[in-house]
Amino acid sequence: MPTAREEGPDFDFSRHVNLSALDLAGIRVRKLSEMGYKVAPGEIDFGYSEPFRLLSEEGLRLYREAILSKPVLENCYYSCPMVPLTIRNMAAHNKFIRQMSTSEAMLLACSNMVGCDLAWHPFNVEHMMTNIQMKGKEATKVFDWHHDSNSFVLLVNLSDIPADGRGGGTLMQDATGAAHEVRAPGPGWAYVMQGNRVKHAAKSSENWTRIVSVISFCRKDTLAVESLEEDTVDLHLARNYTDHALLDKEYAAYRLSRSMEKLRFLKERFLDAEANNFSCLVRRKELVRHLEHLTRNLQITSRSLQMLTDWGQPLPRPLPVDEVPVTEIASAYTSTQAA
Ligand SMILES: [Fe+2]
Repeated sequence: MPTAREEGPDFDFSRHVNLSALDLAGIRVRKLSEMGYKVAPGEIDFGYSEPFRLLSEEGLRLYREAILSKPVLENCYYSCPMVPLTIRNMAAHNKFIRQMSTSEAMLLACSNMVGCDLAWHPFNVEHMMTNIQMKGKEATKVFDWHHDSNSFVLLVNLSDIPADGRGGGTLMQDATGAAHEVRAPGPGWAYVMQGNRVKHAAKSSENWTRIVSVISFCRKDTLAVESLEEDTVDLHLARNYTDHALLDKEYAAYRLSRSMEKLRFLKERFLDAEANNFSCLVRRKELVRHLEHLTRNLQITSRSLQMLTDWGQPLPRPLPVDEVPVTEIASAYTSTQAA
């Protein structure tokens, strides 16, 4: 039975997104190697893309409406000193966003763009978030220089940017330390970066309200059960601006599922009495590597959950609806609507 949250328009890749094969070929990409970074075997030589038009007019309108839909207003807005206004876990409360963030067509287009198979980030709370910076409220960088803990992000601008709009882009650092600012030229435009390889900083907007959705992807290879590469997503940042009970439940589910899949894989692969020679050193070394990988996954998990226990500050809670600055958010859309 559909619930109240199932109401509203459906996401349709062909109507709402402009990522046809032709569009993909026209997107300018800056490779890691062009930026002076060393690219190890097996790594993807992709730094970031220049901005491209991602959402159609209708896609943009529906995305904007989703942000101001009642269940999202009631459950998803948070505020803290680090991020004055942010929207988390939207996919759980809006059908359009949930369908977009599970769309195979969308995933395939993004995979083609970066040159490797991507997976939607398995940590649902964090994989699709929106940060809002109100006009004139900040004069410093929104997030200072950092690497992301997951591999690829798609940054989607939802704001109208005035002709004299200053700031609001992402600074990308090359291997020499020089920075290049990438900024969407208008609403519905987006760019992709390999955020765990390219050091970056979000630059605050100076004279306009900046609304940017951050959509996270993992490499499919990293998440594969036979992989020895760990996704290092932890709760260090998320604990500042997301309900801890929600983080605990969703994060533990995602990390423990990974560990359980790994254990099932190890049981099938290494405990088969007919297929395995139990005195074979190669087999035992491989088993040990997988167990060490599993241990790291569990350590990251336990450290993250302990971070919640050690928090010691007021717990982040969704903002009451009457404290969400709806009018100011809607004002970031107005020049398009008035045009
Ligand atoms: Fe980042």
